[in-house]
Amino acid sequence: MILKTNILVIGSGAAGLTAALELSDKFKVLIISKETLVDSSTWYAQGGIAAVLAKEDTTESHIQDTLIAGDGLCDEEAVRFCIENGKSAIDWLIDSGVTFTKNESTNDFHLTQEGGHSHRRIIHAADATGKEVSDSLAAKVLKNKNIKILENHLAVDLIISEKKCIGAYVFDKNKEKVLTISAGATILATGGASKVYLYTSNPDGASGDGFALAWRAGCELSNMEFNQFHPTCLYHPEAKSFLISEALRGEGAILKNYRGEEFMQKYDSRKDLAPRDIVSRSIDAEMKKTGNDNVFLDISHKNEGDIKRAFPTIYKKCLEFGFDITKDPLPVVPAAHYTCGGVKTSLQGRTNLKNLYAIGETSCTGLHGANRMASNSLLECVVFAKSSAEDIKLNFDYESTRIDEWDNSKVITAGENIIIAHNWDATRRLMWDYVGVVRSNDRLNMAKENLKLIYEEVESFYRNFELTSDFIELRNLVLVAKIIIESALARKESRGLHYNVDFPNLNKSAVPSIISKNTIKSF
Ligand code: FAD
Ligand code: SIN
Repeated sequence: MILKTNILVIGSGAAGLTAALELSDKFKVLIISKETLVDSSTWYAQGGIAAVLAKEDTTESHIQDTLIAGDGLCDEEAVRFCIENGKSAIDWLIDSGVTFTKNESTNDFHLTQEGGHSHRRIIHAADATGKEVSDSLAAKVLKNKNIKILENHLAVDLIISEKKCIGAYVFDKNKEKVLTISAGATILATGGASKVYLYTSNPDGASGDGFALAWRAGCELSNMEFNQFHPTCLYHPEAKSFLISEALRGEGAILKNYRGEEFMQKYDSRKDLAPRDIVSRSIDAEMKKTGNDNVFLDISHKNEGDIKRAFPTIYKKCLEFGFDITKDPLPVVPAAHYTCGGVKTSLQGRTNLKNLYAIGETSCTGLHGANRMASNSLLECVVFAKSSAEDIKLNFDYESTRIDEWDNSKVITAGENIIIAHNWDATRRLMWDYVGVVRSNDRLNMAKENLKLIYEEVESFYRNFELTSDFIELRNLVLVAKIIIESALARKESRGLHYNVDFPNLNKSAVPSIISKNTIKSF
């Protein structure tokens, strides 16, 4: 049976939920999400959302800060578009029920500071902004009669006919079978791929599915070599790289090495509030110099009451691991956090395939260039979800096309799970060791060679054994790792988040990278 909808939204983070709500006044929308409606990176966001809201701030200043952080590779038109629409995106969130923290004395919104921003411009809900955004938008979606939701449904592949997206094949995790969905327009809002690295701040679902689906469908991907490592994740064997928000440094926390010495002044005049690529590389250098496994983040010199009020979630979580942030310096390390590249889109979220849109972390709009500035991501999710919804409303022309149903009748046996678990670990370890914060030609080439075997094993498994959700994610993860390595090898310079010791200098004429299955013959 084929399920029909006007609009198919794949993913229910900030981007997917916003797009669905914006489209629901005109269309029947179907959201599919591979876990629950609120399982997403969005839910975990801490620091907040960047926008020009303070009297002393200007749009031009936010634009310039974003361009500087992006290290010469941002698309200025996309940067202007996003930031000029920042205030209305925040107003839309407030109208949708999101409650942001206010100053106790003045009753206006409290704005915090993060790396790369030359003004206080981060609106937030204490230190759990994502939870507030996610829960509020999900509540609104659940009440909307034009939006249907399928949780625990995982998109396996897009359905393409004559360079046009006409729907998707979707794995029902409960029934363990694949559905065929026909849609007038399809929106990929599947988040990032940071799970491709062994240590990451991201939840388990960040396996890069959207990039892999888009790749197999024939989309262009851009800037996939720029993987952001957040400088400060809690270093503790059981903490699963719990994020310690950059807002702590915004409110005065200082990075120190094992000897208790501050070190950021040696690396950048903006010290602890330099853009993330610089802070992560400085931590990496300091750890290598001192031979230690982590550095420390210290906010204990600030007022205890203020710390607990501003960072209640982080305070509580750290206590669970035996650290009182009001008294102890916290052990921290960089961990994979954000995929700056993605499916190349226009300002309206259009991809190079008709009726296929990409928004949020899955997209590459040109906003982030070679390094995303803190808290610009949630902003991008809302602004571009809204612009893509507008574009769909103006251009929707659903013509019924013949669609081939997924063949569930093929009898294939179950594969051994050990093959999935082994290749999952091997890929993430390989990427961490060879394609991390500091890269070299030798390590990238070794990564390419090693991954070739894993890729072939996984593709042969795909042909011969029945689908499981773990396997679908592994297949995507391995493909995305391959795309990252190819993109990193192609960039013959160091810039932003891509630092290669064999090409340490910036190439002034370098441009954003573009890669697709039509241009890379070695895949
Ligand atoms: P996500 O929120 O990741 O949602 C992706 C959705 O797609 C999920 O629902 C997932 O289940 C679904 N999905 C994925 N694959 C499939 C598939 N194959 N089939 C069906 N569904 C699928 N950014 C900021 O701007 N400010 C912050 O303060 C901030 N803090 C952060 C803190 C943490 C710990 C993390 C991890 C990220 C943070 N970020 C922050 C980044 C930001 O949260 C994300 O970039 C943003 O939320 C991405 O939103 P999204 O809607 O694109 O994707
Ligand atoms: C943080 O709170 O440090 C995360 C902010 C971001 O990733 O934008």
